[in-house]
Amino acid sequence: MIRHSQDFHPALRAIHWLMAAMVLTMLFIGVGMVSTVGPAYLTLLGLHRPLGIAILVLVLIRLPLRLATGAPALPEDLSLAEKRIAWASHLLLYLTLFALPLIGWGMLSAGGYPVRVTNGFTLPPILPHDLGIYAFLRTAHTIVAVLFFALILTHLAAALMHGLIRRDGVLRSMTIGHRPVAVSGPPEELETPGDDIVEEPANLPA
Ligand code: HEM
Ligand code: HEM
Repeated sequence: MIRHSQDFHPALRAIHWLMAAMVLTMLFIGVGMVSTVGPAYLTLLGLHRPLGIAILVLVLIRLPLRLATGAPALPEDLSLAEKRIAWASHLLLYLTLFALPLIGWGMLSAGGYPVRVTNGFTLPPILPHDLGIYAFLRTAHTIVAVLFFALILTHLAAALMHGLIRRDGVLRSMTIGHRPVAVSGPPEELETPGDDIVEEPANLPA
């Protein structure tokens, strides 16, 4: 759906930046987690699980909001191919925002590990205990995370190209938004040139 405003809905913009920060944090926590055998591993895993599930909850809120409020039209001078690439890359970003947390949850379920979100709250398993499925999903989680990182870098490059080189308002549509266009009506009192000239009677005595 094309949105009449030049900007994304303010709530969508807020969720975009919140999720961007969370996703980048998750990628670094994930890599940090698998590169350590020290006590930091458990701390990082304890952060990784609830943050990943929070991303899943946020995208479940974000997608219906996006479908309901639409997106501003892309600049007219972009070719059809460029517009399609932008659309496809956004679709892939959304798909991965769903897939990666679900793969993480499914992988722990298949491995027989509890998916502890907080101390008192553990999610139910979404897959049966099966080490073959666990091994497959463990590899899938790594591959999808690496591809996601590459997609985000491309997305970042495209956003910066719009914001710094083309300066076409696309970056603004997801950040501070465009300034409202001033609606100009007739001024209260119309001044005509010469209004301040006081006419004097023609034949005043000298
Ligand atoms: C957007 C969400 C997520 C991102 C970006 C993400 C990213 C990552 C990354 C980059 C790794 C390291 C992969 C490697 O080098 O092999 C990883 C590992 C892992 N992730 Fe995620 N993840 C997400 C969601 C989840 C969720 C929701 C769970 C579980 C509920 C989860 C559980 C795990 C586990 C158990 C590991 C492996 C730990 C190990 O083998 O020591 N992830 N994740
Ligand atoms: C780190 C993870 C990020 C994710 C997961 C992400 C995800 C997304 C998604 C799914 C959209 C499509 C919006 C929609 O149609 O609802 C989008 C749009 C956008 N994002 Fe990101 N984003 C991330 C980071 C960034 C960064 C770092 C920037 C800027 C430097 C950025 C700038 C933009 C802009 C300008 C748009 C609007 C593009 C357009 O209308 O074509 N994003 N992002």
